[in-house]
Amino acid sequence: MPLNPRTSDGRATGTATPRFELAHIGPHVDDGERAVAELRAGLGRSPAHLPARLLYDARGSALFDAITELPEYYPTRAETEILERHAGEIIERAAPAELFELGSGSSRKTRILIEAALERGCRRYVALDVSASALEQAGLELVAAHDELSVRALVADFASGLAHRAGPGPRLVLFLGSTLGNFRPEERRRFLKQLALSLRPDDRLLLGYDIVKPAAVLELAYDDPAGVTAAFVRNGLHNLARVGGEPIPLAAFAYEAKWIPESSHMEMRLVARRDLRIRLPNLDLHLDLAAGEFLISEISTKFTRESLARDLSEAGLTVDVTFADRAKRFELLLARPQG
Ligand SMILES: C[S@@+](CC[C@H](N)C(=O)[O-])C[C@H]1O[C@@H](n2cnc3c(N)ncnc32)[C@H](O)[C@@H]1O
Repeated sequence: MPLNPRTSDGRATGTATPRFELAHIGPHVDDGERAVAELRAGLGRSPAHLPARLLYDARGSALFDAITELPEYYPTRAETEILERHAGEIIERAAPAELFELGSGSSRKTRILIEAALERGCRRYVALDVSASALEQAGLELVAAHDELSVRALVADFASGLAHRAGPGPRLVLFLGSTLGNFRPEERRRFLKQLALSLRPDDRLLLGYDIVKPAAVLELAYDDPAGVTAAFVRNGLHNLARVGGEPIPLAAFAYEAKWIPESSHMEMRLVARRDLRIRLPNLDLHLDLAAGEFLISEISTKFTRESLARDLSEAGLTVDVTFADRAKRFELLLARPQG
């Protein structure tokens, strides 16, 4: 690995350590044809959707981290509990030569798995995320904490990153934080198929997913009284204005988190307080919203063990084992490609 890490497109990361490297793969957050096509497709839906990549700039990643600390936001604590109890068994079963994490964010929970992996001689961690700032901070902290660990950080979207392979040997793919729940059903199916195709027979997938529960618990988890989730979602709108090239009156939107039982998802909405026209000259686009109409900033699908096993099986994946937290709020499963 290089002494002065540079991104693959030649830009220096500004940090130097022989065991940490950061590379850009595919389109960036606010340029690249695919990024713009994704934005247009989302905004063209009814109701309009903001793509997730607009939510996770440096400020968005920091706000997401703050959300994970909120008392109402149970998923991170529940998933951490499962990892603390079962990391050794997970690593034992998967026997990886490399941990490869999709949507790694701060990699905070991953540290538990990294420590278990190091004990078994697995020293490679590849982290992929659209947020370069989160990757850089996490990567540097990790190599500082673990002398034997090499970290390769990929600034990439899921589609560009899946094809990337850093080294030989079995890989344990990590997809934590119920990020799978942020996909729409058709996107989820496409993504799972692509993921299954990227796996070799010895590779394994560790998937964290949130379980269906009463609406009141879910709505509080996604609309905390301190307003951190609302700030996270509004930051997406701020980024839309930046990419679109004209200010958006943020105060003209109210934040609402709603459980939609028919599709088993939480919907994070930005509701127009009055009739609004959003102009996005850089995209040659405008959006008209009547008072009460909303944009969807993100969804978070909640699963049952059975519903998810069906999706995985259709994609070509078989569940080996499932782990739950003590309060049965959240689960992790280990899956393999079908023979
Ligand atoms: C729900 S957070 C989970 C973060 C972390 N894995 C955890 O469990 O706390 C989703 C993560 O996926 C990243 N992300 C969102 N959309 C992405 C995309 N299209 N491609 C790559 N990463 C993406 C975000 O930057 C963020 O770090």
